[in-house]
Amino acid sequence: MNTLTKLALGLMGQLQPRPAAAGGAPEIALPAPRRTGGMPLFEALARRESQREFAPAALRRATLAQLLWCAAGVNRKALGGRTAPSAMNAQEVIVYAALPGGLYRYEPARHALLQVVAVDVRRVSGYQDFVDAAPIDLIYVADHARMGLVPAARREAYAFAAAGAMAQNVYLYCASAGLATVVRAWFDHAALAKAMRLSNDEQLVLAQTVGALPASGGRPA
Ligand SMILES: Cc1cc2nc3c(=O)[nH]c(=O)nc-3n(C[C@H](O)[C@H](O)[C@H](O)COP(=O)(O)O)c2cc1C
Repeated sequence: MNTLTKLALGLMGQLQPRPAAAGGAPEIALPAPRRTGGMPLFEALARRESQREFAPAALRRATLAQLLWCAAGVNRKALGGRTAPSAMNAQEVIVYAALPGGLYRYEPARHALLQVVAVDVRRVSGYQDFVDAAPIDLIYVADHARMGLVPAARREAYAFAAAGAMAQNVYLYCASAGLATVVRAWFDHAALAKAMRLSNDEQLVLAQTVGALPASGGRPA
């Protein structure tokens, strides 16, 4: 669906998600992420960029696992420490994965994706048309219920900072793995929150599309 149509439907409160593709499992088990190797950091920084064209092919399970671990995975098991920082270690930003088979929540402790709604919310995750067919949109959501120790006036800013760190981790992973990505804030907040069935404590922060580059010939990344 093109941007103008999305804007018009949004104005009428009619921007809707699509039904999920068949076969969306209630839980997607993820293989253990790699913790060593990969592209050297400086090279990944040198390659980091936003891209807005994506091959529709689904990501391989190992790629999905690495992507989510880079965004919000546990990297210090004893402490439950994460790959991205959060103010007072509140770990308030939840990473949702909008996939053709449904909307999933990443559970860092289990390193698994749990289905939240059997709906394909990708189309509603942004006004730009590429989000409809790209294989995955990550959606960063702040859970204000987890920020009891953070002064109320600072909660939103801290959540945006934490989501920004996650998004940059994803950018660097994508640069290192030859994937395309773009972080996004231009979406219909009301339509997306409704499609995701967010609670009153949950606030949409950012979205980030990921997929193989079209030049890959559509092979799964
Ligand atoms: C908070 C934030 C919101 C953004 N929102 C969008 C967006 O909605 N759509 C989009 O295509 N790009 C979006 N971007 C990506 C920027 O346009 C992009 O980072 C900028 O043009 C610089 O390009 P580069 O990332 O390749 O260096 C956003 C970036 C940030 C940090």
